[in-house]
This record gives sequence, structure tokens and C-alpha cells, in this order.
Amino acid sequence: MAPPALDSLPLETRCPPFPLRQYKGFWLPEVTLTAGVPGLRACFRPRPTDVLLASFPKSGTTWLKALAFAARNRAAHPPSDADHHPLRRSNPHDLVRFLEVEFALVESAGGLRDEFEALPSPRMFATHLPYSLLPERVTAGSRIVYVCRDPKDALVSSWLFTKKYWEESVRRPDKVLFLRYEEMMLAPRSNIKRLTEFMGCGFSGEEEEEGGAVDAIVELCSLGKLKNAAVNQSGRGKLPVDNEAFFRKGGAGGWSDHMTPEMAQRLDEIVDDALQGSGLAS
Ligand code: A3P
Repeated sequence: MAPPALDSLPLETRCPPFPLRQYKGFWLPEVTLTAGVPGLRACFRPRPTDVLLASFPKSGTTWLKALAFAARNRAAHPPSDADHHPLRRSNPHDLVRFLEVEFALVESAGGLRDEFEALPSPRMFATHLPYSLLPERVTAGSRIVYVCRDPKDALVSSWLFTKKYWEESVRRPDKVLFLRYEEMMLAPRSNIKRLTEFMGCGFSGEEEEEGGAVDAIVELCSLGKLKNAAVNQSGRGKLPVDNEAFFRKGGAGGWSDHMTPEMAQRLDEIVDDALQGSGLAS
């Protein structure tokens, strides 16, 4: 994809930290359009064993990265040994990288190459890109986990974007796993089991489950534990955002502190309209 001419695209500057441009129906950071997506399309070579964690911002991305990383690497890094776990030393965004951010960083350093090529399989990445902007070789070949969240607690504009992943998860359940933040809150254990089975690293019943591996991952990746890790209380990783900014209050229904019932009702109506017939409405 040739980078689009930014000047011709609608601009939104009220959503810091990045200026956004509207492209093919989605608001995306300018650098994603000029460097991230073109680099990804030009260089990235997906592998059948790749797992891609996809989300709209503020929908539980950081949590899902922590859970998937902890679950997949539980043999090398036992979650029960929390004090020595990589999640104690690194923010989840530095353990599971955003594809489009990485390609944008490489481009700004003057290159066009696939930094992920050197990683051993099975690899795990994340993306905030909508399904329709991912290269077809990625959507065709990789397993995708999508987490969504009540838009009143995230952003209502996520729904059209979300719908595409939902449809794919219904059409190809072996390739796209659809998670809901609220359900993960209510039942973290069963959702971690779904996640590991989908990623091809399910728990062995007796040895692991009864040994507490699932509970250890839930605990290791809890908001309180991640938020209190020294690495997440100051500084930045590779993303241009402070590590602490990813951990606030969490949970479901916090929107009611910031929205009137009328605003909530209006948003519910918009969401219901957008989701009609999709099977995704709650
Ligand atoms: P709140 O702002 O409602 O507290 P993202 O990771 O996609 O940017 O989403 C951020 C939201 O997920 C924030 O929600 C943040 O507090 C919450 N969050 C971060 N880590 C979490 C965890 N381990 N468990 C549950 N929620 C978490």
C-alpha cells in the first residue's frame, strides 16, 4: 500500500497523544498510516504458528498481552515464581509488541525491514489495526485473538471496527478467538483456558490445573499486581506513553461516574443500531 496523502484525509487532534486521520472508515495515528501499515504490508512475513492479539485501544490490550504472554511462556517462566517473572521487569507492551508500531519505529530509524523475522516460532504480536487494514496474508494465516469492551467504558466508535473481528470469529472460530473484557473479569480462569487452547498450548488437566498454574496466571496478570510492579510505576518502554498510563481502575461499569444516564442511553442506542443482526449485541 502506498502511504495515503495525509492532507486529503480528515484530521482529528482532540485525542492525544497522536493526531488521527480518518482512513477507510477508521481513525488512525498519522504515523500508522505513513509508516506502520506500509512497512507491515511490504515486509512482514507471517507464520502459521503466529498469534496476533487485536483490540481497539482501551479495551484490555495490556491485560490480554500479560495473560497470553504468561500463559504461553509458563514452562520457561513459571507464573507461581512471580518475583522473577518477566512481567515484574517489563511492561506487557515490551513483551508483546504492536506490529504497526514496530514498523513505524524501524522506518523512522531509516530502514524498511522486518525486525520480527529473527524471533523464534511460535511468535506473538499485537495490533490496534482494524481487520480490513491487515495484510491478507496475516488474516489468512495467523490465529487472531480479539478483545472488546463495553464501549461506554471504552469508546463507542470501536464498534464498526469490532464487528469485523466478530464476524470472522463466527466464520472461522479456529482462526479468530473473540474475547470480552467483562467476561474475562467475571470468569478469568475459563477464559484463560479458552485462550491457551486457541493458542495451541492448553493446560494439562492434572499436572497444571490442579497444580495451580491457571490461578497463578490470573494473579500474576491482575490489575493490582501489574500496576504495582516497579516497572509500571514510572518510565517508558518503546511506546511513547508512560508505563503507568495503562493501568487505571479497570472493571466494568465505571462509565457511570462520568456519564449521565441520558448519555448512556444514547450510546446504548447507537451501539444497538450498529450491532443489529450481528449476533454481538449483549
Ligand atoms: P480503565 O481506564 O477503565 O481503568 P488498554 O490496555 O487496551 O489500553 O486498556 C486499558 C484499560 O484496561 C484501563 O481501564 C486499565 O486500567 C485496564 N487494565 C490494565 N491492566 C489490566 C489488568 N491486568 N486487568 C484488568 N484491567 C486492566
